[in-house]
Amino acid sequence: MTQQSRGARLAGKKALITGAAGGLGRAMAHRMAEQGATLALTDINEAGAAELAAEINARFDGSAFAYGHDVTREDDWQKVIAAAVADLGGLSVLVNNAGIGGELTFVEAQSMEDWHRVQAVNVDSVVLGCKHAMAHLAAAGEASIVNISSIAGLAAAPGMGAYNASKAAVWLYTKTIALECAKAGKGVRCNSVHPVFIKTPILDPFVAMAGGDEAKAHERLTRGIPLKRIGEPDDVAWCVVYLASDESRFITGAEIRIDGGMTAQ
Ligand SMILES: NC(=O)c1ccc[n+]([C@@H]2O[C@H](COP(=O)([O-])OP(=O)(O)OC[C@H]3O[C@@H](n4cnc5c(N)ncnc54)[C@H](O)[C@@H]3O)[C@@H](O)[C@H]2O)c1
Repeated sequence: MTQQSRGARLAGKKALITGAAGGLGRAMAHRMAEQGATLALTDINEAGAAELAAEINARFDGSAFAYGHDVTREDDWQKVIAAAVADLGGLSVLVNNAGIGGELTFVEAQSMEDWHRVQAVNVDSVVLGCKHAMAHLAAAGEASIVNISSIAGLAAAPGMGAYNASKAAVWLYTKTIALECAKAGKGVRCNSVHPVFIKTPILDPFVAMAGGDEAKAHERLTRGIPLKRIGEPDDVAWCVVYLASDESRFITGAEIRIDGGMTAQ
């Protein structure tokens, strides 16, 4: 495959994306690579991360590295950050994207195993990522942390207690990190992104609830969205490109809603 020409919005940026093999992670990786970033793509699905890195390297040779990574494990974070810093020659962007939906259930049937799993994958991951990446990000001069929360971190829905709580934790934790970095003059910004329903495998439980009928599930999910569609992965990826770039250099501690107007109502 011929090498492709690139934009320069992220030229020189060295970015680690967790959960990169999933729907949103893949789109972020492609859009960020197109804008000149070099990438550390991590996922518990190591084969998926490796496949994505190969796709990106076929477009922009040598710009992506893949790592197996369970974001709930501190020892994994230590190993992956060390390897990514060595391979990329530093780190200037961290995208905490890995996440799971958990069970759709009312509180009476909430299993504590599911609760703790959702908090571990969605919240512990963000804490561990910020903790272990911080010194490297601070050394980069201008750096950015982008935490993928959800519209479900700002507005609740019945049956989504574990997910709502986890994404709300990411929302406020992002502001704590933003303020700590600003106070210490680290040159690291931290913002959260809040997508509504976006077409990725994380919506599979909603499709199952509609008897496997994807169109019906999407139609139901679209009902509360003024722009009358669910999102595409690129709707989120372009926001991440902006927050990762120095174009957003005065934005920190902010939450960006990508919700087709849903929470404007
Ligand atoms: N798609 C949506 O509608 C939507 C809406 C709002 C927020 N989000 C958030 O966006 C992020 C990405 O979701 P997506 O839609 O791409 O989902 P997805 O299921 O397609 O991808 C999630 C990825 O995370 C990985 N992952 C799961 N557990 C992990 C672990 N312990 N360690 C490392 N990686 C792990 C999976 O292997 C997968 O590749 C999540 O944080 C999700 O909560 C998604």
